[in-house]
This record gives sequence, C-alpha cells and structure tokens, in this order.
Amino acid sequence: MNVVLLGATKGIGRAVARLLALRGDRLVLLGRDPEDLGRSAADLDVRAGRSVVAATVPCDLADPAGFEPALAAAAAALGRIDAVIVTAADFATQEALEADLERCRSLLTINFAHTVVFCEHARRFLLPHGGTLCVVSSVAGDRGRKPVVLYGASKAGLSAYLEGLDHRYRSAGLKVVCIKPGFVKTSMTAGLRPPPFAGEPAQVARDIVRAIDRGTPVVYTPWPWRFVMHVIRRLPRGVMRRVGF
Ligand SMILES: NC(=O)c1ccc[n+]([C@@H]2O[C@H](COP(=O)([O-])OP(=O)(O)OC[C@H]3O[C@@H](n4cnc5c(N)ncnc54)[C@H](OP(=O)(O)O)[C@@H]3O)[C@@H](O)[C@H]2O)c1
Repeated sequence: MNVVLLGATKGIGRAVARLLALRGDRLVLLGRDPEDLGRSAADLDVRAGRSVVAATVPCDLADPAGFEPALAAAAAALGRIDAVIVTAADFATQEALEADLERCRSLLTINFAHTVVFCEHARRFLLPHGGTLCVVSSVAGDRGRKPVVLYGASKAGLSAYLEGLDHRYRSAGLKVVCIKPGFVKTSMTAGLRPPPFAGEPAQVARDIVRAIDRGTPVVYTPWPWRFVMHVIRRLPRGVMRRVGF
C-alpha cells in the first residue's frame, strides 16, 4: 500500500508506521517538525532494511492552509495514495482546559474542526480510486464524562463525522475507519495513572493495521475497551453524574 501518515513521530502513529514499514508498504510522513520527521523516516528505513519512506512533508493541524499542498506533495511522491492515517491530535487535562480557554479553543479546533478539514482534503485524494481513511478518535467521545468533558467533546464530534462520512462514501469505494482507543501508554498520557486495560502502542497499532486491511468501520482497542464502553454507553445519566469516571 501507499500510505500517508499524519502523526507518526510519536506514540500510536509511530507504532503503526513501524508495522507498515516492516511489511513493505511505502510511506509519506506528514508532521509539524521537519527534523523530527527526518529522524522518524531514517528510523523506519533502518528498521525495514531499505528505503520505505518516499517523502516527509511539513503539515501542522493548526494550519489548514497547508493541508492540500501537503497531501498533493504526498501524492506526487507516492504516485497514488491508498490510505491516509491520522493519529495526530492534541490533549490536555480537563483542569488545564478549564483554566485556559484559549488553550481549550485551540484543542477543540485542532482535534475537531481542523482534523475534519484535513479529512475532507484527504477524501478528495482517495476517492477517485477508492481507498481508506483511518482516523484515531477515542472512547472519550462515546459518553460525556467528568474527567474529559472538553477533550471528549472534540472526539465525539470527530467520531460522528467519521460515521457519517463512512455512510456517505462507502458505496463510492471510500472506506472510513474510526479507531477508538482506551487508555494507551504514550507521551500523551505520560504522568496520568494507567487504569485497568491500559494498552501499549504496539498492541493498538496491530489492531489499527488489521482494521485498515479489513475496512472495519469502528474498532475499540485494546479489545477489552469494546466491552467496557458497551457498559458505559448504557449507564443511566443519574449514575454517570454520581461516578468519578
Ligand atoms: N494515548 C491514549 O491513551 C489515547 C487514548 C485515546 C485516544 N488517543 C488518540 O490517539 C491518537 C494518538 O495519540 P498518542 O497517544 O499516540 O499521542 P502522542 O504520543 O502524543 O502523539 C501525538 C502525535 O500527534 C502529533 N501532533 C500533535 N499536534 C499536532 C499538530 N498540531 N499538527 C501535526 N501533528 C500534531 C504529534 O507530533 P509531534 O511529534 O510534533 O508532537 C505526535 O506525532 C490521538 O488522536 C489521541 O487523541 C490516545
């Protein structure tokens, strides 16, 4: 596959890029720090034992004017794009976001509005020949919850958009894959206390690559979160108001 990744410099995205590189897919890495992108590309080439990264292209989710040119550069480097994977996102605690509304506005914009705009550009590059748009949302978007009211709202909007996009374009050949991780041990969650069923990036990456290969529309990962969220989605509002999670 020819794959474009936004967010492969860290965490879950880096683990996905490593799996794809090892199986021989051709990659273009998009991200906001050119030096970091270069280091990530070199690491992937060494792991694969040959050149797998066709290009690295600057792209910052804070700057939507750069989305189309970045995807066009990726398409030029790859010939055609089979899959676009978005793992990039912003995170801050509920307390930090409540204390700083400019920080809150920025997170909501990056995680929802700008991610959706990036996906709308990606859809245009994928649709002519079909392909897969895989975006990492979160279990935090499934239910309004006290510790993640604001971050969760950004992911709820993203999940709803991805579901609608899948309904609208699946028959035209576009597969939309929405990944909903539970807690994963990455730099995003550094310093937070891992709950039961906390996952590792490599484990989540395997689930993501399998979902892309199968075109699975929604995947909870690691797998116990599917059952955890099955219960949480059904808890009465009165119970949700009393509990701490
Ligand atoms: N970790 C969890 O427990 C968890 C749970 C549920 C959902 N998720 C979701 O999983 C995805 C991956 O998270 P992670 O844990 O792997 O996070 P991470 O380790 O912090 O990696 C985040 C990635 O996003 C990139 N990024 C951040 N802001 C960006 C911007 N403005 N423009 C372009 N790239 C940007 C980072 O690039 P830099 O290298 O430049 O910083 C990095 O590559 C996110 O969508 C997150 O919301 C994570």
